[in-house]
Amino acid sequence: MTLSHPLNRTTFGNPNDEGNLMTLAEAELLLNTWVKNEKLVFHMQQVGHLMKSYAEVKGYDAYTQRLWHLSGLLHDADWDQWPDDHCRKIIEELEARNQDPRMIKAIASHGPRYFGVDPDSEMDKMLYAFDELSGFVHAYSLMRPQGYEGIEIKGFKKRLKDKSFAAQVSREDITDASQRAGITVEELIQFVIDNQLRGVV
Ligand SMILES: [Fe+2]
Ligand SMILES: [Fe+2]
Repeated sequence: MTLSHPLNRTTFGNPNDEGNLMTLAEAELLLNTWVKNEKLVFHMQQVGHLMKSYAEVKGYDAYTQRLWHLSGLLHDADWDQWPDDHCRKIIEELEARNQDPRMIKAIASHGPRYFGVDPDSEMDKMLYAFDELSGFVHAYSLMRPQGYEGIEIKGFKKRLKDKSFAAQVSREDITDASQRAGITVEELIQFVIDNQLRGVV
């Protein structure tokens, strides 16, 4: 298999930096500085929000919720300016800032087929799963006159089978992510429908 953005690394961040995490405001500042494409910013806000919601539902503490939130919020931060270097740039930036290695690892493994890094922790796996599904549910909402209102899982699944719809979203990745997370695609979709940050961007 040829990887499109191989990281060729197995360790990320410094174990001593566990517990060191920027604030939400600092993460937003980084996003606003690096990313001009507002669709991409919104995508990261959506994934970040799903990650935070999931950590909340799981009853994780405030630090862990922020860890999940920021992993989602920053996972594509370098895509706008350095698409060929995605996600090496953001990883190096977060390492230079001595950020919690768990966040850096989650970002490094958000596309195993592209970066060659397997998601290991629950947070890694959920970031991978939410990344693809969030965009798909959003694309689906944009083609419905009622937007997110009344989205049903049945209609959504039909779209999933229609290869021409949101063709850039890999069905293979969705299946793979759900298997790795040990959560059915239906459950994942339902969680995204219920918790997705809504918008028209
Ligand atoms: Fe990405
Ligand atoms: Fe993404």
